[in-house]
Order: sequence, then structure tokens, then C-alpha cells
Amino acid sequence: MKSLKKILVTGGAGFIGSNFIRHALQTRPEWEIYNLDALTYAGNPNNLADLSPDQNPRHHFFHADIRDGKFLKNLFQKESFEGVFHFAAESHVDRSILEPEAFVETNVLGTFRLLEASLSQWEQTGRPKFKFVHISTDEVYGSLGPVGYFTETTPYDPSSPYSASKAGSDHLAKAYCKTYGLPLVVTNCSNNYGPYQFPEKLIPLMILNIIEKKPLPVYGDGKNIRDWLYVVDHCEALIRVFEDGRNGETYNIGGSAEYENIAVIHLLCELLDKRLQRGPGESSKNLIRMVKDRPGHDRRYAIDAGKIKSELGWAPRHGFEDGISQTIDWYLTHMAWVHAVRSGRYREWIEKNYDKRDQ
Ligand code: NAD
Ligand code: TYD
Repeated sequence: MKSLKKILVTGGAGFIGSNFIRHALQTRPEWEIYNLDALTYAGNPNNLADLSPDQNPRHHFFHADIRDGKFLKNLFQKESFEGVFHFAAESHVDRSILEPEAFVETNVLGTFRLLEASLSQWEQTGRPKFKFVHISTDEVYGSLGPVGYFTETTPYDPSSPYSASKAGSDHLAKAYCKTYGLPLVVTNCSNNYGPYQFPEKLIPLMILNIIEKKPLPVYGDGKNIRDWLYVVDHCEALIRVFEDGRNGETYNIGGSAEYENIAVIHLLCELLDKRLQRGPGESSKNLIRMVKDRPGHDRRYAIDAGKIKSELGWAPRHGFEDGISQTIDWYLTHMAWVHAVRSGRYREWIEKNYDKRDQ
């Protein structure tokens, strides 16, 4: 029997990582996934409940921290991975404004430790076929005006402690490729949405507040623009990059779906009002509240995904309205998951972030 490919996924209990593992186990029967996650507030074993090792012997879970260099070196030595998908990060901009230290610790120091462990395995095993996929964000490029797109050569200009720490980790990753030859690619992706997203980010927060008839807090004038990508499309792009991306390269990944925040919120109100059979007098749009803006709030993100399309033949398969409808239906049918993630710590965060925003 042919042996399985050992793939390490960091942050696999988070939003994108858990979608990625589910997708990879379904589409790559020759992969065996080692999922390493510290289970911070954003990491949730329930995201993987259907993939527990008893149900899926090709999925192994390690409760560990990417800053733990000793643990990483032992694991790499024991398992000899053929690939690494590095998702683990502190990922929420608002948290990075209020509590930045964890972002430097995990995103910069943790990435460094993972690169060190990868390099030492790769060198000690005679530099075999291997690839490290460093998963990053379009936010490293800063803010766009009303026209233009981020390309792979756009200079970095991060605005928040989150994007600055991701920028630092991108530079470190590329340096390990340039200096030591570690086979590696960096991906910079636009805003994801879909099942299992923690309800601190715009789309799940708004879906749940609409369902529960709570205020819908819109930062600033609501006209900031994001490019939205359905999470499964992102997962497919990452597998394309792993299999055929060129070492040392950056690939931008985006959905070509630019919307002002207020337009996203209006769409969510309309789709949910239909599903919840709310009449015109009960429109959820009445819940919208304009609140104090996020400091350093980037105005517009937009990705030129021409390189990954022409080199690797990737394009998103889900339009925004299609992806949003599937996402809404997922939250409506997974309210037990929602109740479980909204612990006391979650409520403390909501108070900390939103209490001082009323204008
Ligand atoms: P998430 O916050 O949902 O999940 C992050 C995961 O990392 C959690 O499971 C958490 O427990 C784990 N983690 C955090 N610190 C850790 C540590 N020190 N050691 C081990 N595990 C740790 O994030 P996400 O939205 O799934 O994002 C995943 C990656 O994709 C991040 O690197 C993020 O920068 C990048 N990204 C996200 C988006 C987006 O829209 N969500 C867009 C582009 C890129
Ligand atoms: P978010 O989901 O935090 O992603 P990012 O900041 O990484 O793009 O926010 C998406 C957009 O929505 C961003 O412009 C900020 C805005 N936003 C609100 O207006 N209200 C909110 O409560 C949140 C969480 C975000």
C-alpha cells in the first residue's frame, strides 16, 4: 500500500483551518493531516466534531502552541512532514488594537519557531520534496483609494497591529526561502466568510445580531470596502498553491466581490428577513446603528488575482450571494454551535469592544 503524505496544519481548529481540513480530507485521500492548535478563544474542537480521529483516522490533533519550539522540533523529527499549511494566528483587527501583544507573540514569534522547526527537519532529512504554505492576508498592503488593486508587487503598508504582525511574519517566511532555500510560498487573501467563523467578525456577528434582533454596529460611515471570498474557494486555492505554486513566490487570492460594509449588512437583513418571515414593518435594517469608527480603519481592499488564475488555473466557484446564502443557512441550522462558542469570555469581549463606540 502506498504510504500517506503527512501534512501539518497549524490553527486547524479555527475558522479557515477547520474548513481546510474538512476539504482536504475529502479531496485528497492520500493526505494524513496533523492538526496543531493551541485552542485559544478562536480555536474550537466543535469545529472538527465530525472529523474526530475515531471517525477519521487520517486526522490527528495536537493541543500545542506554535511558540513552543521544543515541541515543534520533536514533532517534526518524529513525523517528517511533506508539507505545512500555516494558519495559526491571532486574526481579529479590533482585538489587535486593544490587546496587541499576543499578535506579536503568535504571528511573529510563533511563525519564526515554525520556520525553524521546518528548516531543521528539511535539512536533516537531506532536503527532500517539501513545501511550507504561509497563509496571510491582503491587509499587509494597507488601504486602497477608490480605484486600483493589490498585486503581488504592491509595497507593504500595514495599518493595524494585526496586519503589521502578519507583514512581519510574511517577511520572515520569505527570508527563510531566500536565505536557507526552504521551499515556501506566501499567500495573501481577502476577507473570508462561511461556516464556523467566530462571531466577532463582520458577517457572522451581523447574522446572529439580526436573528436575535440586537443592534447592528456599523463602524464610521459604513462605506469601507472589503473583497469577500467564500472560505471553500480559499481552501481550493491553497491546495493549488501547495501542489503547483513556485517556491519563493507570493500568490494573491481574492473573490472579485467588492462590497461596502453597509451593502453587506443590507443584504444580510434582506435575506434573513425573508427566511425568518419578517414583514416590512419589522425590517432588520431598523437595527442598524452607526458607531464610532475603528482607529486606522483601512478604507478599501481589492485583490488582483490574475497571477493565481493564469499560473495555477484557480478561480472562485462561489458568487457572493450564493456563498452568503449558504452561510446564513449554516448559522440558522447550527445554533447549538453558536451557543457553545459564546462563552462568558465572548460576552466580555463584546462589552469591551462595543460599549465605548456609541456616538
Ligand atoms: P481564527 O482566529 O479563526 O483561527 C486561528 C486559529 O489559530 C485558532 O484555532 C487558534 O486557536 C489558533 N492559534 C492561535 N494562536 C495559536 C498559537 N500560538 N499556537 C497554535 N495555535 C494558535 O483565524 P482564521 O480566520 O481561520 O484565519 C486563519 C489564517 O488565515 C490566519 O493566519 C489569518 O491571518 C489568515 N487570513 C484570514 C482571513 C479571514 O478573513 N479570516 C483572510 C486572509 C487571511
Ligand atoms: P472584520 O470582519 O473585522 O474584518 P477586517 O477588519 O479584517 O476586514 O471587519 C470587516 C469590515 O467590517 C471592516 O471594515 C470593519 C467593519 N465592521 C463593522 O462595521 N462593525 C463591526 O462590528 C465589525 C466587527 C466590523
